[in-house]
Amino acid sequence: MENLEFLKIRRSVRAFQNKNIPRVELEKIVDSARFAPSARNIQPWEFVVVTDKNKLKELAGLGQNAAFMAQSAACIAVFSIDTNYFLEDGCAATCNILLAATALGIGSCWIAGDKKPYCRQVNSLLNAPAGMKLISMIALGYPQEDGAFKVASKKELKDLIHWEKF
Ligand SMILES: Cc1cc2nc3c(=O)[nH]c(=O)nc-3n(C[C@H](O)[C@H](O)[C@H](O)COP(=O)(O)O)c2cc1C
Repeated sequence: MENLEFLKIRRSVRAFQNKNIPRVELEKIVDSARFAPSARNIQPWEFVVVTDKNKLKELAGLGQNAAFMAQSAACIAVFSIDTNYFLEDGCAATCNILLAATALGIGSCWIAGDKKPYCRQVNSLLNAPAGMKLISMIALGYPQEDGAFKVASKKELKDLIHWEKF
């Protein structure tokens, strides 16, 4: 429990090996998502796992910043019913997905959902029931780069932390 290293080595991975992710691993990742916190414990989320290459290509073509999804092994689309805190809840679930993938040695990258003009197309492509909100799509795959998981360079703790007040 003391080892927080896996939190620090999570990075956005956008180049993937041409290798499938076993279904059991994908299930473990989605399973982690359902343990995320949610306002009033509503757990408003649902997840669509896409592994079909043609569908991945279609999703990749929708957004300017999602082209690399065409080479991913899978995408998990995070949806939520429309609650007061659907975005916060969905983002918490998304973080769990990214971290679970990292812990399993699987690369991941968050692709924006909510607020994007392509939400409607994604919902239609994935047969989402009316009213479902697309929170995010997470591209997944085994990283092409050997050292993909290394401690990320981020803003320094000393510049961010305040004790008791700013
Ligand atoms: C809400 C949100 C939306 C994002 N959307 C995209 C996206 O559409 N395409 C993409 O390549 N990366 C996207 N990212 C990933 C960020 O670019 C990435 O997390 C950031 O550059 C920091 O890099 P790191 O994840 O390696 O720490 C998104 C991240 C968040 C939190």
